[in-house]
Amino acid sequence: MMKTLALYGLTLAFFFLSDTFQLPNMINTYGYKPESGAHSAKITFTNNCPRTIWPGTLTSDQKPQLSNTGFELASKASLTLDVQAPWKGRFWPRTRCSTNAGKFTCETADCGTGQVACNGNGAVPPASLVEINIAANGGMDYYDVSLVDGFNLPVSVATKGGTGDCKASSCPANVNAVCPAELQVKGSDGSVLACKSACTAFNQPQYCCTGAFNTPETCPPTNYSRIFEQQCSQAYSYAYDDKNSTFTCSGAPDYAMVKVVRIEPTGGTLVDGSGPCPIVDCVLAISNVCPSNLVATNKDGQYVDCYSACDALKDPKYCCIGDYSSPHSTGLPA
Ligand SMILES: *[C@@H]1O[C@H](CO)[C@@H](O)[C@H](O)[C@H]1NC(C)=O
Ligand SMILES: *[C@@H]1O[C@H](CO)[C@@H](O)[C@H](O)[C@H]1NC(C)=O
Repeated sequence: MMKTLALYGLTLAFFFLSDTFQLPNMINTYGYKPESGAHSAKITFTNNCPRTIWPGTLTSDQKPQLSNTGFELASKASLTLDVQAPWKGRFWPRTRCSTNAGKFTCETADCGTGQVACNGNGAVPPASLVEINIAANGGMDYYDVSLVDGFNLPVSVATKGGTGDCKASSCPANVNAVCPAELQVKGSDGSVLACKSACTAFNQPQYCCTGAFNTPETCPPTNYSRIFEQQCSQAYSYAYDDKNSTFTCSGAPDYAMVKVVRIEPTGGTLVDGSGPCPIVDCVLAISNVCPSNLVATNKDGQYVDCYSACDALKDPKYCCIGDYSSPHSTGLPA
């Protein structure tokens, strides 16, 4: 699979980024970054998932790995890594990780080292990937979200600074919710944790774009790749997906990796007693109804995200803190 990806000359990077997006009153406050000689790009990972995740990083082309190849990221936490240009690599989220008898493993996207660090190993599929190819001297960077190795969590990648298109790319949907049984990876509790690509599941040339299917012309979308495409049209749904899944930005931007947008109850049952609380996904269509004071925009003023009232307005009333810290509080002193 990685070989197939290499045909594109792309690298994957995952960001659970934060701070990529700016509130309206903060537009255009990013610092200017000179373009002279070698530069380092900052890649910020943010976890917007309600649970801890463990991002992994992989530098390609046999180059030295980044200073950090895997780390724990609590809910709402961020971590920034410096990357020396030129650089190519990928990032992915690992979930449900734990240490047993001194061995660290993850139920999804494990990198097989037995440690939190991935030390040059990639993710065992399925894994949602963010791939980034950073050019030397402020040249054109390429980046994308790839589901070629399957899906485990929603991810996105956005640029900060830079010139040109510089659009955010995201896979905001929960593909696990529509994953066909033959592609599902289930946890011990029976929930679907990840969705394999058809290539991983069946290892057949028409799904892996190998053998007679090794060109864009001879490897059309399949009924399986269309499931990924329908959920996340900006992401690569298979190796020869439409080229517009690759995004570009010049002028040495920084990167923010993304947003995991699912809302996942940690317990509880439905009020009618019919079962556990379902996972609720926040889909892109919210852009139509996002109030203007919650809209986050990119440097061109285009909509990229809708903040929660708590994140945007920092008001205790919306954050359930202070006088509003219990389910029944009125905000009045007790
Ligand atoms: C996809 O197509 C294959 C081959 O025609 C078929 O066996 C399989 O059931 C289909 N799967 C889905 C999810 O449509
Ligand atoms: C990619 O290109 C196809 C066909 O040219 C188009 O239908 C689709 O909307 C494009 N997707 C994006 C995300 O621009």
